[in-house]
Amino acid sequence: MFKLFTKKNTISKIEEKQLDMSNIPKHIAIIMDGNGRWAKERNMPRTYGHKAGVETIREIVKECSELGVKYLTLYAFSTENWARPKEEVDTLMKLLVQYLRNEFEELNKNNVVINSIGDISKLPKVCHEELNKAYEKTKNNTGLTLNLALNYGGRVEIVNSVKEIAKLVEENKIKVDDIDEKMIEKYLYTSGMPDPDIIIRPSGEQRLSNFLLWQCAYSEFWYSDVKWPDFTKQNLVEAIFDYQNRDRRFGKVK
Ligand code: FPP
Repeated sequence: MFKLFTKKNTISKIEEKQLDMSNIPKHIAIIMDGNGRWAKERNMPRTYGHKAGVETIREIVKECSELGVKYLTLYAFSTENWARPKEEVDTLMKLLVQYLRNEFEELNKNNVVINSIGDISKLPKVCHEELNKAYEKTKNNTGLTLNLALNYGGRVEIVNSVKEIAKLVEENKIKVDDIDEKMIEKYLYTSGMPDPDIIIRPSGEQRLSNFLLWQCAYSEFWYSDVKWPDFTKQNLVEAIFDYQNRDRRFGKVK
């Protein structure tokens, strides 16, 4: 089944994207970049860009849910982001709580599981309480799983997995030779989830910034110059359309 998407207010044929609905990526991951620069272009504080970025989150979550994407992972706060000015960190935490409180009903109605990846115990108490509450209330939903990556770092995630496995060796529960990729995956935050099919990074930067380092082994990368607050569902459709036209060989020969 194909679905035709047309960019609003445009007559250009190039803007039309015919998505193959039988090949929608199961897992989309997004590095929501460019909020600060977007705000600066408007002579506004960086926090203004983050507030605008939340509007984009709403639109993209809805679109992913409607398209039948199973997992959407959003990089909202990295282990390195604590080094930002306190006012910015505080605003991001407030936006998270507001988002969870304002969007809960709608997300739950749309069958979304509100999940998080990262060490949320280090976030302000109100944040991890709201996250735990949202997860508990939505964990039995069967639609999109929204993974909010918070206090997330790909290297720390791998280190934690290695530590868990080392404990098992120390306790003589497993042998070193028992360690394989499946075991490392079992102790990642994303345990049980498929790897991201596509990683999207808007705002012109082309790097991974410690995001899903283990999981991205065979992900397709898609970059755009559009900054996150300006990113629309049409941009998402464009990314999925490109993804559907790529040849994924997973190291094999077809
Ligand atoms: C990167 O842009 C963006 C972030 C570090 C934060 C993203 C957070 C939100 C969009 C809102 C809060 C989250 C939730 C889940 C409600 P940047 O600030 O690095 O932009 P720049 O590269 O232009 O400076």
